[in-house]
Amino acid sequence: MVDVILGLQWGDEGKGKIVDYFAKDYDLIARFQGGPNAGHTLYVGDDNKKVVLHQIPSGVFHQGTVNLIGNGVVLDPVTLKREYDTVESFGVDLKKNLFISERAHLILPTHRALDKAAELSKGNDKIGSTLKGIGPAYMDKTGRNGIRVGDLLHKSFTTSYIKLRLKHQRLLDNFNFDEDISVWEEEFFEAIEFLKTLNIVNGEYFINDHMDKGKKVLAEGAQGSMLDIDFGTFPFVTSSNTISSGVCNGLGVAPQKIREVIGVSKAYCTRVGGGPFPTELEDETGELLRKTGSEFGATTGRPRRCGWMDLVALEYACMLNGVTQIVMTKADVLDAFEELKICTEYEINGRQMKQVPFQMNHSKIKPIYRDFRGWNTQTSSYRDPSALPQEMKTYIDFINNSLRSQVHYISNGPNRDQIIKLGLS
Ligand code: GDP
Ligand code: IMO
Ligand code: MG
Repeated sequence: MVDVILGLQWGDEGKGKIVDYFAKDYDLIARFQGGPNAGHTLYVGDDNKKVVLHQIPSGVFHQGTVNLIGNGVVLDPVTLKREYDTVESFGVDLKKNLFISERAHLILPTHRALDKAAELSKGNDKIGSTLKGIGPAYMDKTGRNGIRVGDLLHKSFTTSYIKLRLKHQRLLDNFNFDEDISVWEEEFFEAIEFLKTLNIVNGEYFINDHMDKGKKVLAEGAQGSMLDIDFGTFPFVTSSNTISSGVCNGLGVAPQKIREVIGVSKAYCTRVGGGPFPTELEDETGELLRKTGSEFGATTGRPRRCGWMDLVALEYACMLNGVTQIVMTKADVLDAFEELKICTEYEINGRQMKQVPFQMNHSKIKPIYRDFRGWNTQTSSYRDPSALPQEMKTYIDFINNSLRSQVHYISNGPNRDQIIKLGLS
């Protein structure tokens, strides 16, 4: 069976920390989509040293786990090599415990260039892409032009590369993109040689063999449900299915094999990049959330947009994913607030609704809020659920009563041990 950990909002919910926390209970951790647009922050070791992972699964710091980069991922060999060295500097033996699906598609230097050129051409309508080449790489996958990790082991790789590069060059010329990317290409070919030395496997048999042997498997998502290519705030989304259905085609796992779906949500909302964000606070309260929560992108360093908890979007994400447990992260960030708000409905053209609309981007959504008293207590050292302030319990109870899924854990700090399992009634 496979359990899943994924994001329920617009990314950066704290998935990395939560995967790292649960990894001790699993044998195999597998990333099923996305690429180096992800930035998953962990604090590991006795001295809680910070590591940001982009492509390597977040279970890698637990001895005894095996980690798989699945076929649904788009892989940048250059970022992978850099990340590989960082992880090994912590004494982790990746030769032994990192495996890569031969069906994962490669991100080429020209994919990154195309991402940049396309964003520049959009002007004010730009998506706010991380510029890691994600969109162009997935376009080549669905357009049936892409190059896969397994292709590296065949003689035809160079021919395929030249052919695809030529196609990209024509597109870049149309965009009048004339930046010199020869340094990127040099790094790329070096990293390709390195990638060839890693454990390249048939991912779908690899994961199913593990399951057949009764091993416990955890699938790790990247981005968040509101960035899903089908159900997110299109076109301000990423280019993969970030929801639980992505586990099946991103790893080669049958739907009946999925057991727990653990959804990670912050106690408030953030978003980085463009696109609709109904509960965004463009005032000093938003600034306080950003400052207290250190809300700056783990991949790009951009300030994250901040706002109140949005139950309309969260319930939508619970429905799409079949969430069985919610982990609510960054509860401690709300410690400093006298008053809190939760959005329970959207008002659009004078009509109140509890559903995420099709034209989220073009609608003028007014969030309808319910007010809560803040707990005004430092909670980051708490470990016992019964000791939590009554105001926090009221906040969580309200969320639980409003959703089809329940909050099972509260995360109250970035470190591994800052998590509380709630005793549910
Ligand atoms: P991910 O992409 O979902 O893995 O999340 P990121 O790593 O991009 O962003 C989450 C940020 O919040 C990181 O800086 C984490 O170290 C931090 N974090 C995670 N959980 C908590 C928490 O419960 N409290 C606080 N204060 N920080 C947290
Ligand atoms: P993790 O896994 C937050 C956002 C970008 C942009 C849009 C498209 O750390 O939660 P892309 O580079 O995918 O073409 O960008 O999606 N985005 C993320 N936002 N966390 C992420 O990953 C993200 N990955 C992409 O900011 O708005
Ligand atoms: Mg992140």
